Amino acid sequence: MIKILTIIGARPQIIKAAAISRAVRNSFAGQIKEVIIHTGQHYDDNMSKVFFQELGIPLPDYYLGVGSTSHGRQTALMIEGIEKILLDEKPDYLLVYGDTNSTLAGAVAASKINVPVVHVEAGLRSFNKSMPEEINRIVCDHVSTLLFTPTETGYKNLLNEGFKENNSTHADIDQPAIYHCGDVMLDNSLYFSELADKTSTVSKDNNLQESGYILATIHRANNTDDPQRLSAIFEALHEISLKHTLTVVMPLHPRTSGLLEKSLPKELYSEVFNNPLFRIIPPVSFLDMIQLEKQALMIITDSGGVQKEAYFFGKPSVIARAETEWTEIIDADAGIIADANKQQIMYAMEYYLTGPSIEFKPVFGDGKAAEFICSKLLEHKGK
Ligand code: UD1
Ligand code: UDP
Repeated sequence: MIKILTIIGARPQIIKAAAISRAVRNSFAGQIKEVIIHTGQHYDDNMSKVFFQELGIPLPDYYLGVGSTSHGRQTALMIEGIEKILLDEKPDYLLVYGDTNSTLAGAVAASKINVPVVHVEAGLRSFNKSMPEEINRIVCDHVSTLLFTPTETGYKNLLNEGFKENNSTHADIDQPAIYHCGDVMLDNSLYFSELADKTSTVSKDNNLQESGYILATIHRANNTDDPQRLSAIFEALHEISLKHTLTVVMPLHPRTSGLLEKSLPKELYSEVFNNPLFRIIPPVSFLDMIQLEKQALMIITDSGGVQKEAYFFGKPSVIARAETEWTEIIDADAGIIADANKQQIMYAMEYYLTGPSIEFKPVFGDGKAAEFICSKLLEHKGK
């Protein structure tokens, strides 16, 4: 039996954790014991609690309750809390997902006291170090022992940074092992898709017709905290909705909803809120979200996870960022990088409204990434 200590904190990590927890429960019970620490980075019920209930994730064994504060303080509080638990629990591995401050804190706390770090969603790069996430993922990768990349590009990025192919079952922080295994998010999207069809009432509740709306999510710091960028995105969505009589559904991250009134010019704010086609709603549950994605005409987002889910469900996405880590989506013509530029966003949406034919090749794995990861954890411990 090996013990893994999993760090979650932000919404997408809670969702990703569902895939590994499910694999542990269904295929590795008796071989892997999982202990979960929730840092409390996200804490509203609709950003955290809802996912545990809906996705069948065991409740966290530890809750640090760190909450929202500056990057430095938030990360420091997490490191302090995680270190104490690591010393008590003495796990075989610490497992972290993605690129948030919770990821960074887990990686730093564990690597400093010689607990091997497992990074799920390793190797992704935006090549833009002004993004806090880019710093988090680079640091995390370079103190990890086992690195699992969701895409071929992620694997190549690691090779370019000096990581070596390591086929032996010995790995440590100085000789890490890297694997391309596919995306645990695809595992989840496939697993929960049918349940979403059966149980989600989000379309009915919001009076939505299949393929009759654009789904939008915006939360990235450089969009929410820059009034010009935020306004450009809302202007483009408002104009497109009026021009094509298309509904825009926007489950809004609390970071963004807290800033809308302050950051949008008064006139635009009132136009958007008086536009009957514009539905700004609170964050939705995962089953509701994938239902919204599956039935959307197209998706506009600055989220990493939502870009990928758009692709999993065969929907084009307009990416409200200057770059993406998920370059396979761009290569397939399934996504267009439009930044927060009104003209580029409108051009990209008009392009996808013409219904170009897109081939959604299976570049994110086979839906069994979590099983692969668990089996490698055992193999590296000689089990
Ligand atoms: C974080 C991650 C980002 C990830 C996103 C997923 C970092 C640096 N950023 O960004 O990579 O894409 O999570 O959603 O780790 N807030 C609430 N309630 C909550 C959580 C947040 O009101 O439950 C508000 C607070 O005002 C807070 C703000 O959102 O200050 C930002 O939260 P924070 O966790 O710092 O960053 P995110 O923007 O959520
Ligand atoms: N998501 C959700 N409800 C919402 C918005 C997003 O369940 O209202 C899910 C979405 O399906 C995806 C994940 O949250 O699985 C993406 O998280 P987010 O956009 O917050 O962060 P990112 O992926 O950009 O780090």
